[in-house]
Parts: sequence; structure tokens; C-alpha cells
Amino acid sequence: MSTKSCETNLDEGVLHNSEWVHRWAVGNTAFHRPIPDKFLDANEESMFDGKIKSLFLPLCGKTPDITWMYNKGHTVCGVEIAEQPIKEYFEENKIDYETEQVENVGTLYKSKDGRLKLYVADLFDLSVSLCGQFDIIWDSKSLVAINLADRELYKDLMLSLLKPGGQYYLAVLEYDPKCWPGPPHTVPDDVVKHLYSTSCKIDLVEEAERSGQNINEVKKDNDASSDKEAPKPALSSAGAAIKTSAYVFDRWYKMVLNE
Ligand SMILES: C[S@@+](CC[C@H](N)C(=O)[O-])C[C@H]1O[C@@H](n2cnc3c(N)ncnc32)[C@H](O)[C@@H]1O
Repeated sequence: MSTKSCETNLDEGVLHNSEWVHRWAVGNTAFHRPIPDKFLDANEESMFDGKIKSLFLPLCGKTPDITWMYNKGHTVCGVEIAEQPIKEYFEENKIDYETEQVENVGTLYKSKDGRLKLYVADLFDLSVSLCGQFDIIWDSKSLVAINLADRELYKDLMLSLLKPGGQYYLAVLEYDPKCWPGPPHTVPDDVVKHLYSTSCKIDLVEEAERSGQNINEVKKDNDASSDKEAPKPALSSAGAAIKTSAYVFDRWYKMVLNE
């Protein structure tokens, strides 16, 4: 069983599993995108080199990235704490599936052809003995969603699930943490290096600064609506809060695990 433990504390950016399940139930899932990440098409050649590979997606939700990979013939394994998106994933994509109870872990949903396996489980209850090792880890909106206290445990688990020489694609964002406690948590470059540089060769492959989304823009809007005291921006969501950061960077890293 998982060795991590925490209670939800939104003020400190700590989310318990039950809070994530609740978010899916009430549709508080702004992180979900209806189309595959464009990084996949743009980097297909360097990721796959024309070969069929095995991929692991931590904290997968029902991302269409799964479909992109599965439809290209790859073997895909993911894990998600909420059952709702996993069931919806198979049904919305009309993929025949069966389920299996995995003792002390959760429920495994797998396609009839065996190439797609999605666990409804706590990520931290997976292990290399259960899942084996993968050619590629696809970490999109996953590390950034992990409670800070669990980062080291997360990194160790990810690296154990990767074959020697395997590729780890990591998408993160960096913003002023004073604006929002997370998730998504800010993950600056030095944190990526601190976590992974002893085990992996790290390349920054994409970096984009979100323009027009900084605090000056928000202030301008507020000033226009009142010439007295500018109201504070409504920080009703992560997206709104992060927009108030003076800087927001999106980064993609490619990391290769030492042989
Ligand atoms: C920010 S979302 C990202 C989902 C997906 N990667 C995507 O790009 O749409 C994080 C997801 O992780 C799930 N999750 C959070 N903690 C988890 C855990 N400990 N084990 C498994 N899933 C978890 C949440 O339910 C949520 O669907």
C-alpha cells in the first residue's frame, strides 16, 4: 500500500485523493483537454524512431494523448485515482474492455487486445513488480499535480518504472508561487534538475512564456472598471490565479535514464 499520507488542505495546495475524485464528479476538470498534446505530432520521430514502444502515463485522467498513442499501435498503461474518467474513456472511445480486481491496488481496465491498461488506483500503490518497466514515461500535468511532500517518492517510482536508457517526457509550468499554492504546482528548472539530474540526462526541448497573461494585464482590466480602488482579480480557479503571476513559463523536458 501507499506510504504517502496527507489530508486535503487547499490553502497549502495539498489535495487528497478523495478531492480529485470529487472534482471529476462535479466537473471541476479544467485541466482536461479534448485534443492530444501537439508535442506528440511534433516530436513523434524522436520519441518513437519508427518503432512500437511501451508508454506509462501517471495520473492519466482521460487524456486524448492515450488515444494518440494507442491508435499508433503502441502499448499504453496509465493510472488514475478516479474511476469515472477511466470508464468514460473506454466508453467514449468505443474500445471494448474488461475489468479485473488487483489486490491491494484497485481495478484494472484493459482493452480486449491487451495493448491498453488503465488502473483505477493510487499511483503510489503501483510498482515495477506489478507493471514492469516502460520505454517511455509521459508526464503531462502529473508531477505538477503531486503534493509537494510526495515529490521524492514520485520521482523514485517514476524512475523505477523506466527501462535503462528509457525516455521520460516531462511537461511543467513555472509561475510565482505567491499567486497560487497549487495544484498545478510551480516546478522551476532547478527542481527538475534536483529531482532527476543524478539519474538522467536532461534536455529542455520546449520553453514558452505565456504572453499577455501577467499581472499588468489583470491590473489594466481592473483599472478600466473602476477609477477608485482596483478590485482584486477573482482567484476562483488555478487558471485565474496563475494569470496574476508576473511570469508563467511552460516547459517540456526530455530526460533519458542512465544505462
Ligand atoms: C491535473 S490532472 C491531469 C490529468 C491528465 N494527465 C491530463 O493531462 O488530462 C491530475 C489527475 O491525476 C489524478 N490523480 C491525482 N492524484 C492521484 C494519485 N495519487 N493516483 C492516481 N491518480 C491521481 C486526478 O484525479 C486527475 O485526474
